[in-house]
Amino acid sequence: MNHTIVMIPGDGIGPEVTGATRRILDACGAELSWIERHAGLAALENGSDVLLPEETLDTIREHGVALKGPCTTPIGGGFSSVNVALRKQLDTYAAVRPIRSLDGVKTRYEDVDIVVVRENTEGLYSGIENVITKGVITSLKVATEPACRRIAEFAFRYARSRGRKRVTAFHKANIMKLTDGLFIRCAREAHEARYPEIEYDEVIIDAGCMRIVRDPSGFDILLCENLYGDVMSDLCAGLVGGLGVTPGANFGDDANVFEAVHGTAPDIAGKNVANPLAMIMSAVMMLNHLAETRDDPSARAAAMRIRDAYNACIAARERTRDLGGSLGTSEFADAVINRLDA
Ligand code: NAI
Repeated sequence: MNHTIVMIPGDGIGPEVTGATRRILDACGAELSWIERHAGLAALENGSDVLLPEETLDTIREHGVALKGPCTTPIGGGFSSVNVALRKQLDTYAAVRPIRSLDGVKTRYEDVDIVVVRENTEGLYSGIENVITKGVITSLKVATEPACRRIAEFAFRYARSRGRKRVTAFHKANIMKLTDGLFIRCAREAHEARYPEIEYDEVIIDAGCMRIVRDPSGFDILLCENLYGDVMSDLCAGLVGGLGVTPGANFGDDANVFEAVHGTAPDIAGKNVANPLAMIMSAVMMLNHLAETRDDPSARAAAMRIRDAYNACIAARERTRDLGGSLGTSEFADAVINRLDA
């Protein structure tokens, strides 16, 4: 079964990590065809006068699945975030970021296995900011019942389908009584009505951060509104080796975009030193999604081959320098390809 994937190389380290990932996907026997489209600065450089061309959105809508590198939103100049806009336009309302310890990557913690489920379409990322008067600016946090309900449903459904035990809602409803209050009320109601076998609890986000860095083992699925999910994703990435090893997926009813948690890393862009593993892991999530939704066992087999190959590389200390190794981005991809049949 052949799947058409929309490839968005992105900016900064994006072309390097997506290029490495595509080489691995092409080598692993997955039956994929590629259509390249642009977003971010790359869109402007390719002749668009907007950061997020309609053509890019339409192509993702048509094919349903995209693999995306990170994109830069220029600061100032009236640009709104290209990533936020992409998620809203495609209504990819659920971001899923699995955070797992990697065998052989030593951190302060062992056996971390957490999934951040982040509401992707509203909250403080609605981008509604107003200058009230000189020196006084407001930013509006939006919580709607349908969006709170569907992300809660998603988190519990995800927990059930993956055999996970607990959903913990992160909130600040003691201060934001109405917005975060709505968020946890929807989570409670979903739990009570349909998912009684899943454990559910709530934690105020500041106390939750403290608990998670002391001992992540008590956490399973973190259910977060948009901003908290963004912050918790990077915090949790730090528990297992950093942004180079944290993949992600943005799920919607009609479109699904797979992308690493990290950004464009301008400090290391163009130097062939970025770790492509987070992007490669995102591609593995994409293959598993194709296997599940399109009933294609060969996509699952390809995902497992890639996962076994990168795990073998990490165990053999074939790594990029953020994980204490010396391989460049493309050399790490070569190492994974060499181990695909091992
Ligand atoms: P960042 O994730 O780009 O970088 C933070 C730190 O992590 C840097 O020191 C970087 O070198 C390191 N890092 C990130 N990815 C790495 C990798 N694969 N291998 C090795 N080291 C890695 O975050 P920052 O600096 O806050 O954002 C830079 C730009 O990226 C901004 O323009 C931001 O808007 C954009 N961004 C885009 C995202 C997306 O497209 N999904 C997500 C986050 C940020």
